[in-house]
Formats: sequence, C-alpha cells, structure tokens
Amino acid sequence: MTEFVKLIYGEKEYQLPVIEGTEGEKAIDISKLRAQSGLITLDTGYGNTGSCTSVITFMDGEKGILRYRGIPVEQLAEQSTFKETAYLLIHGKLPTQKELTDFSVLLNDNSLVHEDMRAFYENYPRSSHPMGILSSMVNALRSFYPELLNLEEEINMTVTRLLSKVRTLAAMSYKISRGHKMVYPRPDLAYSANFLNMMFDSPVRPYDIDPVVVKALSVFWILHADHEQNCSTSAVRMVGSARVTLYAAISAGIAALWGPLHGGANQAVIDMLTHIAENKNMKQAIERAKDKKDPFRLMGFGHRVYKTFDPRMKIMKKMCDSLLEKLNISDPLLDVAKDLEEIALKDAYFIDHNLYPNVDFYAGIVLRAIGIPTNMFTVMFAIGRLPGWIAQWKESQDDPNWKLCRPRQIYTGPPETDYVPIGER
Ligand code: ACO
Repeated sequence: MTEFVKLIYGEKEYQLPVIEGTEGEKAIDISKLRAQSGLITLDTGYGNTGSCTSVITFMDGEKGILRYRGIPVEQLAEQSTFKETAYLLIHGKLPTQKELTDFSVLLNDNSLVHEDMRAFYENYPRSSHPMGILSSMVNALRSFYPELLNLEEEINMTVTRLLSKVRTLAAMSYKISRGHKMVYPRPDLAYSANFLNMMFDSPVRPYDIDPVVVKALSVFWILHADHEQNCSTSAVRMVGSARVTLYAAISAGIAALWGPLHGGANQAVIDMLTHIAENKNMKQAIERAKDKKDPFRLMGFGHRVYKTFDPRMKIMKKMCDSLLEKLNISDPLLDVAKDLEEIALKDAYFIDHNLYPNVDFYAGIVLRAIGIPTNMFTVMFAIGRLPGWIAQWKESQDDPNWKLCRPRQIYTGPPETDYVPIGER
C-alpha cells in the first residue's frame, strides 16, 4: 500500500507519495510537486535529495554499510578481484568462469592506445597534474575510437575499451612526466599486475611483480569501485543526461573527483601528514580544524553520508598494516596518522560532529608503499571508480523515465532593472 505525506500550503492540501527502497529507506516523491502546487524544493548541496533510484550500490551511513549489487564490500575485498568486481558492477551479476575469461580477453585486446595520442602527452607542460591530463585524454579517446552504443555488444566494447585504456593512459602520463620510455601493456598479465608493470618496469630495471602488491592494488580499487550518488558520479549522470558521449561524461567525473573535498583528499591527507610530521604540530592541526575562522580541515576526516566509521577505511587501515609489514616498510606517516586518528576520535568536537576517518585517510600510505607518487594518487582513485561511473551511466541511459538533469533555483537577485548606457553610469 502506498504511503503519502500531506503537504498543507495556503488553503490547499497535497498528497505526496512515499517510495521505499529495498532496505527500508524512504523518500517523498516530489516529481509532480511543482505542477500541482507551483512550489519547488530547495536543498543546497543535495543532502536531502535523491536524484534517482538505483539497483547498483547500497550504503547506510549510520551503520557503516557498503554493498555492490547486494554483496558486502568486505567480502569483495577479501575474495574478489578488481576485474571481477568491475564486471559485477557493470553487468549486474558475478561472472561465470567463461564470462570472466571473455572479459579478460576483451580487456587485453583493447589495452593499447593509438600511437598518435602520445603526441598529446609530449606537449603537456611537465608540471601538469595527471588528473587534468587524464580527464582530457579520456575525452580525446572519442576522436580515436568513435563510440558505438547501439547494440549490446557495441556498448560492451566501448565500455571495456575505456576500462582497459584508462589504465594505459594513466601509466603513460606517469612515464612521460618522468621523461621515461613508455611501457606497453602485456597480454599475459591480469588487470592490476599489467598496470603496475606499465608504471614501474624499465629497460634498466625490470619490474618484479609481487603478488602482495598486486592484491593490495586490487583491494584498493575494489574499495573505490562505486559509492552511489557522490559528487563525481552525479557529475557523470548529470553530464551524461545531455546525451554526450560516454567519454565526455567520464571525463567530467574525473574532473569532479580531482577536487580536494572529494577524491583529491587522498593526496591532501599525505600533504597534511607530512606537514605534521615535519613540524611536529599535531595539536595545532586539531585546533585549527576546530576553529571556525580557519578554513583548514582535517583531510581524510568526515563524510557527507557516513556518520560512523567508513567501512572502506577499516579495510584500508587493516590492509595498510599488513602491507607495510609484508613489504618490511616503516612509514613514519602511518604513526602520525594513527596518533591523529586516536586524538581526534577522543576530541569532543569530532565526536559531536560525527567526524570519523574516511577511506582516504589511510589510502595514501597504501599507495606510497606500492610506490605510487603522490600526484598520481587521485588518478588511482579514478581508475578504481571507473566501473562505478560506467555502471551508473549505463543505468541512467537505460532508465525508461530518463530526463535531462536540470535543477531549478530560487532567484534572489535584483528585480527588473533598466539597462543604463555606458556614458550615463
Ligand atoms: N575537519 C574539521 N571539521 C569538519 C571536517 C573536517 N574534516 N569535516 C566536516 N567538518 C565540520 C564542518 O566544519 C561543519 O561544522 P559546523 O556544523 O560546526 O559548521 C560540520 O563538520 C559539517 O560539515 P559540512 O562541510 O557541512 O559536511 P559535509 O557533509 O558537507 O562534508 C566533507 C563532507 C566535504 C567530506 C567534509 O567532511 C570535509 O571537508 N572533509 C575533509 C575532506 C575529505 O576528507 N574529503 C574526502 C571525502 S571521502 C571522498 O570523497 C572519497
């Protein structure tokens, strides 16, 4: 039986249907509100707004739950691989052995990028940030690999092509930024190992592929693979709603992810921890984060949805400890991070504001242990998030109720004002 919410405005009463999700979460359906009442809703930052219904990812910010297609992220991190999780997100189910093999073949077959694209890389200033490069290179893919999106196989080809090439594009940007020879993808290597090899192999020092590092990278990517309607995913859906190409929509997602309040936080955390370690000023950092007059925030802390521990953070922290131990690495930033977490979690400000460490807090330390340079951290996040963006884009394009995304506003500027010619101003 449909529930309703009553809205009384002036003399009139409106009945707004309540819709319920699989896990009991509820929303007031206001899709007819303006037509019926002339009113719109105002929700700056969309904290109370559901932009779609979705069958892809479930998260409960109060209980710290995250599931992809119903499967807890903890189980995927332990038992799956990034490639399999990508398949799950994009195709909606775990693959059979044959489906996974076919997917691997398709990924391998599409891993090269057109040689002419190297010319772009060679002309970016060396100081360019890899996120800016990645965003433009993904958009540029369309000129080299025109998008075919009519038949199911064409969509699969376009999507797999992107998934495969993004890894090559990212590794190329790193090699070129260092002035090193690019390393081509290898067909005998699986997704994560292939990326590591393209990043770190060199003619003078062959890269030794360590299964411990491969597993760590795969888990890192699984933890980032989707997170429902976050800022970059909403950007992908919003831009995609104008029926731009998949490449353009993903390029917009990459640009959004770059921001320090979103995916850029993993780099910002390392900058912050390094600053604290060098200046021994942890207490001062905490005080600054609490000071409303100071724009400084504890990076890697807080989340729009999680008001308890981010489940990805717990897995990341555990992995961070075991990875450093297995690789016999001692990273002083890990001690700083743990001390900072302990102090913040006991501090009344952080308790009262429900501020807990998020996935980015330990992510950078894991990436450092793998050998990833700091300015590539957010690129690593972007590669991980790509399956989620693709799945969300596909879902929005297939939605029978699809609409161009176009929010409204409440105008608070000057009333109608006459134009004043320049000589009379
Ligand atoms: N340090 C100090 N105070 C904080 C922090 C923080 N990291 N995060 C939020 N707060 C405070 C705010 O100052 C505000 O306080 P007030 O109510 O007393 O004014 C309150 O908590 C709520 O903050 P909002 O910005 O309104 O919360 P929102 O849900 O919009 O913010 C966000 C979420 C942007 C992630 C925020 O917590 C933040 O800036 N964190 C640091 C950046 C970060 O780690 N981003 C990564 C997020 S995870 C991801 O995208 C992968």
